[in-house]
Amino acid sequence: MVKIILVAGARPNFIKIAPLYQVLHQVPTVEVLLCHTGQHYDSNMSQVYFEELGIPEPDYNLGVNGGTHGWQTGQIMMRFDEVMEKEQPQCVIVVGDVNSTLACGLVAVKRGVKLVHVEAGLRSFDRSMPEEINRIVTDSIADLLFVSEKSGLKHLHDEGIPSEKVHFVGNVMIDSLVWNKARIHGQTILDDLSVKKENYAVVTLHRPSNVDDPVRFRELVNWLCDISKKVKIVWPVHPRTQKRMVADDFFQSLPENIIVTDPLGYLSFQKLISTARIVITDSGGVQEETTYLGIPCITLRRNTERPITIECGTNYLVGDDLTQATKLVDVFLNGKEKSSIIPDLWDGTTAERIVSILLERL
Ligand code: UD1
Ligand code: UDP
Repeated sequence: MVKIILVAGARPNFIKIAPLYQVLHQVPTVEVLLCHTGQHYDSNMSQVYFEELGIPEPDYNLGVNGGTHGWQTGQIMMRFDEVMEKEQPQCVIVVGDVNSTLACGLVAVKRGVKLVHVEAGLRSFDRSMPEEINRIVTDSIADLLFVSEKSGLKHLHDEGIPSEKVHFVGNVMIDSLVWNKARIHGQTILDDLSVKKENYAVVTLHRPSNVDDPVRFRELVNWLCDISKKVKIVWPVHPRTQKRMVADDFFQSLPENIIVTDPLGYLSFQKLISTARIVITDSGGVQEETTYLGIPCITLRRNTERPITIECGTNYLVGDDLTQATKLVDVFLNGKEKSSIIPDLWDGTTAERIVSILLERL
C-alpha cells in the first residue's frame, strides 16, 4: 500500500484536487489522505467545493486562517510537519501556486518524502506576485512535475529541471468542468439573479495589485460603473475584495446595474460564466475556464502565467489600460470575437494521466 497526502488550502486548489482524489481513491494499492490547510475557510470559499465536487471531509484541517504571508506559510509548515510525522506518507501532492502549495511542499522535501507538483512550470515573470515565488520554489524542489500547458515545458527546461521529472498532462481544473457539465447546465443562477443568457458581464477581482491599492481599486470600480451603463454586471466579490469594499464604503456607491454577490459555489459560477457575454477578471483559473468555454475574457493584469489562453484561447491582457479594456468591451458587445481553440489535453482526462504516471514512478 502506498500512502499519499493530497494537499489543498484555497478555492482554486479544491477544484484541482477533486478529480485527482476521485481517480486516486479508486486505486486499490493507494491510501489517499486529504489535508486542508485552512487558508480559505468561509463556507462559500471552502466547504461548498467539497460538497459540490464530491470531496470527502478532509482527514486533517490545519486551521491556519488568514495572517501575513510569512506567518501563514510558517504556521502551515509547523502544523503539516506534525501530520507528516504521524502519517509517514510515501508521497505528497500539491497543486497550483498558493502559500499552502509552497509550505507543504517544503515540509515534504525536508522529510525526504517524494513531492509531486500539479500545474508546474507556469511563469508570469513577475516576482512581485506572491504566486510567482511559490511556483518557482515549488518547481525547484519537486520530484515529479505535471504541466498544464506547453509554455511550462520550456520554463522548466530553461530552469534546468531534468526532463524525466516533467510530464505534459493537460489541465486538471478543466477535468472538473468537463465532469460536471450536465450539473452546471442545470443551475438556476441566471433566474436567481434575474439576468438573461448572453446579456451580462461577470467580474471577479482579487489580486493584491488591483484591490489592495485604494487608488487603483477606486479607478477600477469607477470603470466598472461606466461599463455597467452598457451591460449589466454580476460581481461575486472575493473576501479580500469585500474587506476593501467594506472599509472604504464602496458597496453603497454602486449603481443598480452592478449586481454584487458573495462568492458563488462552483456549479453556479461555472453556469454564470458559461452564458456570459464577457468575463472581466484577474483570476488565473477563470482565464483558463473562459478559454475552454469560448467566452471572451478581459484580464486586468499586466502579465499572465497562462499565455496559452491568449495565444489560442479567448483571453486579452489589458494591464492598466482601461481605454483598451473599454474598446474590447465594445467589440464583444458587438459580437466580434476572435476565434479560439481548446488547448491540447484540456480534455477531462488529465487526472487519469497524472495518476497513471505517478503509479509508475512511486
Ligand atoms: C489566495 C492566493 C492566491 C489565489 C487566491 C484564490 C496566496 C499567496 N494567495 O489569495 O494566489 O489566487 O487565494 O482565491 O496564497 N479570507 C476570508 N475568508 C476566506 C479566505 C480568505 O476572510 O475564506 C480573507 C483572509 O483572512 C485574508 C484575505 O481574505 O484577509 C486574503 O486571503 P489569503 O488566502 O491570504 O489570500 P487571497 O487573496 O485569498
Ligand atoms: N470561482 C467560484 N466562485 C466564484 C469565483 C470563482 O467558484 O465566485 C472559481 C472559478 O471557477 C475559478 C476558481 O474559483 O476558476 C479559482 O479561484 P480564484 O479566482 O479565487 O483563484 P486563482 O485561480 O486566481 O488562483
